[in-house]
Amino acid sequence: MTRDSAAISVFTVLAELFAAAADGCRDRSPLTQRLLTDAADDLRQGGVTAKIMAGSECDREGTVPGLRFAGAVHRLVLEGRAPGLAKHYPSVGGQPHLPTLWEDALPALNAHADVLRQRVLATVVQTNEPGRSAPLYGGLMVAAQEAAKAAGRHVPFCVRLLEVGASGGLNLRPHHVGYQLPDTVLGDPDSLLVLDPEWTGRPPADLSHRLRVVGRAGCDPAPVDVSTEDGRLHLSSFVWADQLERWNRLRDALDLAATDPVRVDRSTGPEWLAHQLARAERDVLTVVWHSVVWQYVSPADRAMGRAVLADAAAKATPLSPLALLVFEPRRTDDGYRFELLLKLWPAGISLNLGHGAGHGTPFTWDVTPWE
Ligand SMILES: C[S@@+](CC[C@H](N)C(=O)[O-])C[C@H]1O[C@@H](n2cnc3c(N)ncnc32)[C@H](O)[C@@H]1O
Repeated sequence: MTRDSAAISVFTVLAELFAAAADGCRDRSPLTQRLLTDAADDLRQGGVTAKIMAGSECDREGTVPGLRFAGAVHRLVLEGRAPGLAKHYPSVGGQPHLPTLWEDALPALNAHADVLRQRVLATVVQTNEPGRSAPLYGGLMVAAQEAAKAAGRHVPFCVRLLEVGASGGLNLRPHHVGYQLPDTVLGDPDSLLVLDPEWTGRPPADLSHRLRVVGRAGCDPAPVDVSTEDGRLHLSSFVWADQLERWNRLRDALDLAATDPVRVDRSTGPEWLAHQLARAERDVLTVVWHSVVWQYVSPADRAMGRAVLADAAAKATPLSPLALLVFEPRRTDDGYRFELLLKLWPAGISLNLGHGAGHGTPFTWDVTPWE
């Protein structure tokens, strides 16, 4: 095999990953689907996309090189460095015209190939989905009230929220978000971020109570600092530009975060969690929360995380209770279902609170035991 044919065959494999990523956007983001389909063809022909992807040729499927490419291109548009392409991007006021997308992309790809290559090499796909605050809010309401009942109290517990895999920390202020239901607004109706949770049913809790959050902390192996322009652009670039609802939600969540900063520490989780859980607060429910993170955690970190939690659970008391609340995908016969699970110690409660779409909305409240 000559060097050229070896290079072409490597890019053929990468082109398949781009095509698979394009397929993943079907019915959800026609713009990204078309960009990745044309980029896959360009890769097969050794065009500018091959230059941009040089160094990433052998990346694994799990690192989704196609979405890193699409994110880097989107970021170029957001930075105003691809004016000829911007007219296709609704995130900057454009309107996609798919038949001419690729020919309008080419000048930007050629002009900025080096910058794009560096960004594709340096980034991991990072989404921080504020829509997940809606199931989190409902789950916290249930947890605070169930813990109070178990302790023989009428008033729900105050909550200390500890998030593992928090990304930019956008879900660390669920009490400052508004949740627009058909008949009322839960949370903060004056918030910069008002979500339509699209709930079927309601959380099994008295929703007239206020959620009181008295402490928050988050960690992530790749934390995004949303107080910086770079951090905001980073998260924004991975939202598909023609998903305007998500785009607007992220923009509002970033605006809210600017008024209420929370630091996200750099850590994979277990040691950070052990440190956080070493301090139990009286009259406060400590809640460990993670959403769409578990699939990324190594088996060693999973085992260590479970051990840390089991240790803290054994020490929990009715007046210093502990909860685990997670929103994670579970494999079903026809794909994945995102489920909201709650465990409470020492009450011994273990519930599946319901299921919803991966971005947190819509969500169906449907309580069953969590086996
Ligand atoms: C799909 S994002 C979800 C972010 C956030 N939890 C949310 O729901 O918006 C997955 C997050 O998991 C983080 N992550 C990756 N590996 C991890 C690990 N071993 N432990 C904890 N978090 C991890 C990533 O950095 C990323 O921020």
